[in-house]
Amino acid sequence: MDSFVGRSITGLPTPALLIDLDVLEANIRTMGQLAADAGIAYRPHAKSHKQPLIAYQQIAAGAVGVCCTKLSEALVMLDAGVGDLLITSPVVTPWKIALLAKRAREARIGVVVDSLRNVQALGTACADAGSRLDVLVEIDVGQKRCGVAPDKASDIAIEVDRTPGLRFAGLQGYQGLLQLDADAERRLLGAKTANAILQDAAERVRRAGLPVDTLTGGGTGTIQIDIGMGGLNELQPGSYVFMDSRYASVDWGDGPIPFACSLFVLAGVVSTPMPGRAILDAGWKAISNDGGNPVPLDVRDARFRFAGDEHCALESDGPLGLSAGDCVRLRPSHCDTTINLYDHCFAFRGGEVVACWPIPGRGKTW
Ligand SMILES: Cc1ncc(COP(=O)(O)O)c(C=O)c1O
Repeated sequence: MDSFVGRSITGLPTPALLIDLDVLEANIRTMGQLAADAGIAYRPHAKSHKQPLIAYQQIAAGAVGVCCTKLSEALVMLDAGVGDLLITSPVVTPWKIALLAKRAREARIGVVVDSLRNVQALGTACADAGSRLDVLVEIDVGQKRCGVAPDKASDIAIEVDRTPGLRFAGLQGYQGLLQLDADAERRLLGAKTANAILQDAAERVRRAGLPVDTLTGGGTGTIQIDIGMGGLNELQPGSYVFMDSRYASVDWGDGPIPFACSLFVLAGVVSTPMPGRAILDAGWKAISNDGGNPVPLDVRDARFRFAGDEHCALESDGPLGLSAGDCVRLRPSHCDTTINLYDHCFAFRGGEVVACWPIPGRGKTW
């Protein structure tokens, strides 16, 4: 695939995953600057890009490390030399716990917990492995996914604190349901509520005699609100590097959107069976639809329709101006699940391929 470097993106075998490097770099720089100006640490979520090469760029721009959702994703980052990781979902099965404890000898690894039983299992595994884990208690700040209520936080934090091999590092509170709420006012109110729940939990832990070093959470959709509120001291945005089309429908208030779209799927026209219809070679295997349809670029007034595993259709009441062999960029609706479909991506500048990057974190299901 490296043989495409130096050539036009229009010569790539389609469908191909493209990253506009100028935009990606600007997004990474902007996030670094926002966090630095606010004096808040940031630990971007690598579940969006799944690529150590992008993690390095984020760390070079000031990130303290990266977040990963799963142990298998975290091991990809660890194998690539990323030395500070937070696993943002509990690791509970014995095999995974033993592996996590063993690999924790190599780097600083944090993991979230929301049960006493899990704390005990992690402690036993760390004692066996001779390692140490940072442990954060996850608080349910409104997402109704993992996490305990604030009044349960101190019991778990105390258990972490008295377990050899574990260090109580703080609390995580992520309200994912807010991130894509198009309404700026609702996002603000929701973020305030989430913050109040997290601060309540932190206060209870402090009253129990433990310091709360890290309060981590937040995502791309609440980044400016979280910075403005000042409740978190570590931010975990993921999608900002790519800005999928769902984020384009979010009302960002009066100011300019701080990030721009850098991720595309390049699809090739394979057939124009009738006027106003073009069939392209990107179906459900090439671009995800859990966040809705992708948005076709480069073609005016075209309606998008999935047409099977390997195909999609662009349709219009007038001529589309496309012929077989042409390429069209599609803006994915959900970056995480689209990237998960590709072994590698092509970074480009001004229409020219400048690098082919592997995506070693794709397909990591455990
Ligand atoms: C725990 C956690 N933190 C942060 C994020 C980042 O969210 P976003 O991609 O919207 O920035 C996610 C997204 O799924 C998440 O699950």
